[in-house]
Amino acid sequence: MDFWIILIVVFVLFIIYYFLNPKVPNGLKDVHTVTTLSTLKAAVTNSLGSDRLYLTNQSYLDNDGLIKFQIRGKWFCLISDPVLAKDIFLRPDVFPKLQLDEYLPDTALSHHYGVNVVHSNGDVWKRQRRICNLAFKVLPVNLVVETGLKLMDIMEEIDNKPIEVVDLMHRFTLDVLGKVVFDLDFNNLGDPTNVYVTTYNEVQEELKSVIFTILPLDRIPYFKNKRIRKVEKLEKLFDDMIEKKHKSIAAGRSNGDLLELMIKACNDQDNQENPSLTDLELRHNLAIFMIAGHDTTANALATLLYILSVHKDVQQKAREEILRILGDNLTPSAEQHKLLKYLNMIIHENLRLYPPVPMLPFRKVTEDLKYKNHVIPAGTGIALFIYGIQHSPKLWENPEKFVPERFENEHFASGNDSWLAFGGGSRMCLGNNLSLIEQRIALCLILRKYEILLPPNSIHKDRVREKGHGTPQPIELVFKRRAE
Ligand code: HEM
Repeated sequence: MDFWIILIVVFVLFIIYYFLNPKVPNGLKDVHTVTTLSTLKAAVTNSLGSDRLYLTNQSYLDNDGLIKFQIRGKWFCLISDPVLAKDIFLRPDVFPKLQLDEYLPDTALSHHYGVNVVHSNGDVWKRQRRICNLAFKVLPVNLVVETGLKLMDIMEEIDNKPIEVVDLMHRFTLDVLGKVVFDLDFNNLGDPTNVYVTTYNEVQEELKSVIFTILPLDRIPYFKNKRIRKVEKLEKLFDDMIEKKHKSIAAGRSNGDLLELMIKACNDQDNQENPSLTDLELRHNLAIFMIAGHDTTANALATLLYILSVHKDVQQKAREEILRILGDNLTPSAEQHKLLKYLNMIIHENLRLYPPVPMLPFRKVTEDLKYKNHVIPAGTGIALFIYGIQHSPKLWENPEKFVPERFENEHFASGNDSWLAFGGGSRMCLGNNLSLIEQRIALCLILRKYEILLPPNSIHKDRVREKGHGTPQPIELVFKRRAE
């Protein structure tokens, strides 16, 4: 029933939009347009991936470095020029993040994420980032290892049968994140139907809905209230975790999770430089950590397993490195993480080919920006298209080929303006180390025990097909137990 109501409302609103098409600013007249209709069509057919967006607009993205589209009657630009990208990273005052309230006011999305370290600017961002930096300094790697071992137990039960790895990796990383962020075991690996997991997943599905982003459906009180009621359930869980954590800190207990470290950093009276976050700001940051850390690493791991299944030589070489460096250890020590050079090259090349954040959160142009023959007017929202930059034949030799050796030089990734999987400048990813540790631990455990194979009838034969930006369609792989 809900589905039909949505469809009818979408149709009516689309017609209205069609006739109220916003005027194209003069400076963007010659910029190629991705129509709202094509985006809605892709959303309905589950093919709203960056792979499709890039392939269908490749000549404009590679040559012009710019395309435009509209959301809720406003023009936005997608940029795939690495020089402009660098400028945007280095001048956050001229290109500040667009606040959720500015383009999606009074929606479930702005309600849930509020103002957090990803969606803030200036002094507010500095205050949030300083507290977060302190918390991310010492990562509870033992919690990742513990969850990795549980993953292996689950895989053992489904030995030799095809496993859908996108879902399995989401179960793994949600459990890791719950423990690392606020000491909650979602137990998604053990029981994916439990109430924590279903509440979390239901909210994410709602928040990711492209139709609700493009069309102002939540101006209709029925939809708005329904969506906000859903996110409030999860917000209550986060509030309870914060309250519990205040109490456990007061009682002198310690677990080393990020929430605890953030609250301690806020309470640190000796260090006046560390300003506080309110409980509401803490909750908005927990919400953003969960989505920033869970989906991204899960999708990276799923494409990694896939890429190893189609490149058997690389898989074998990575396994040999793991066995050589780890010996009898199942997971790497802090020192051994650094020695896994080939594994790190594979991880970087996978993040190039399949960036889990293919399109960065919107920035805003604060003064008219002259770019080639165009002028992006002040006030326009812009997003960097990392996928386009990382696939451009102008920037990479044989960009569609999986070649880990591109990253042979260790400093290649950090010094390369065309590899932007973790962003750049001062807004660079806060959880990159955590994610890399998770990826290495999972690969060490899996490759030691299994050979990974792609079933011959897979839809992903030549490349990963996406269903959303950075989200692959389900990928089935066979894990064949190796002789010990
Ligand atoms: C493969 C995994 C990951 C990828 C590809 C990734 C990618 C990114 C990118 C591209 C940005 C820059 C966004 C921008 O400039 O607008 C970013 C920022 C951020 N990431 Fe990640 N991320 C990953 C994992 C994580 C994890 C595990 C966490 C933590 C739980 C995390 C937390 C954050 C935060 C808090 C920011 C905002 C930093 C700021 O604006 O100061 N990420 N990430």
